[in-house]
Amino acid sequence: MAKDVASYISGDDTHNHNNQKLIYPAATRNQDPILQVLKRFLICDVDSIEDEESPLFLEIAAGSGQHLAYFAPHFPGVRFQPTEVDDSLLGSISYYAENCPTKNIMPPKLIDICQKLSSYGFEENSIDYLYNANMIHISPYACTVGLFENAGNYLKPDALMITYGPYSKDGVITPESNIQFDASLRARNADWGLRDITDLIKLADKNNLSLMDTVEMPANNKTLIWKKN
Ligand SMILES: C[S@@+](CC[C@H](N)C(=O)[O-])C[C@H]1O[C@@H](n2cnc3c(N)ncnc32)[C@H](O)[C@@H]1O
Repeated sequence: MAKDVASYISGDDTHNHNNQKLIYPAATRNQDPILQVLKRFLICDVDSIEDEESPLFLEIAAGSGQHLAYFAPHFPGVRFQPTEVDDSLLGSISYYAENCPTKNIMPPKLIDICQKLSSYGFEENSIDYLYNANMIHISPYACTVGLFENAGNYLKPDALMITYGPYSKDGVITPESNIQFDASLRARNADWGLRDITDLIKLADKNNLSLMDTVEMPANNKTLIWKKN
């Protein structure tokens, strides 16, 4: 099984409740490989979030909040906005945001990606980057539909959505460990499971997005780069 992702659901995460800070071992393992991909795709011409040109990077399903805490110091001119649907995680996300040395992580917002982002105050064509790790396969497909619909409506033209996790391709899951992982997800919740890149491309097409790049990642994961047309 892809331990990198499996540990999100197997209950073996180390939860450090000091100051409400949570540590997901999988997030600790995958944060640097994801950062290396972001360094290839994030463009920021300003040094500070005080600059009105500072791009907005919206994270959906932030979990512990570790990912943005790791990324933000590398992009001091980017405004990072973490969000989560589970309000019990907001304390941990706030902890990481408040302790970010570059002070470019905003306080977390409670957002259900199945709802329109306008209901949370976002304007259409206003977001520079949408980022989502490890939610697509660990939530009902309606959440994936909501993610792509919101990306299509709320990203600026030519802006990017970055999704990270395990996927199947043309109905085929590889390797065997991911087949087992998919089965374990579906056994736990019949509405969960790996999504197929070919289906996601069709969903993207309906929402004015196209798959721009696929980056192979450790532990049989991929980072998909989607571009708004
Ligand atoms: C496996 S965790 C991933 C956390 C984090 N992105 C990471 O990679 O460490 C999946 C997250 O998806 C969130 N989630 C599930 N349904 C959601 C929804 N409808 N809207 C936003 N987030 C959702 C869960 O609350 C959970 O925190």
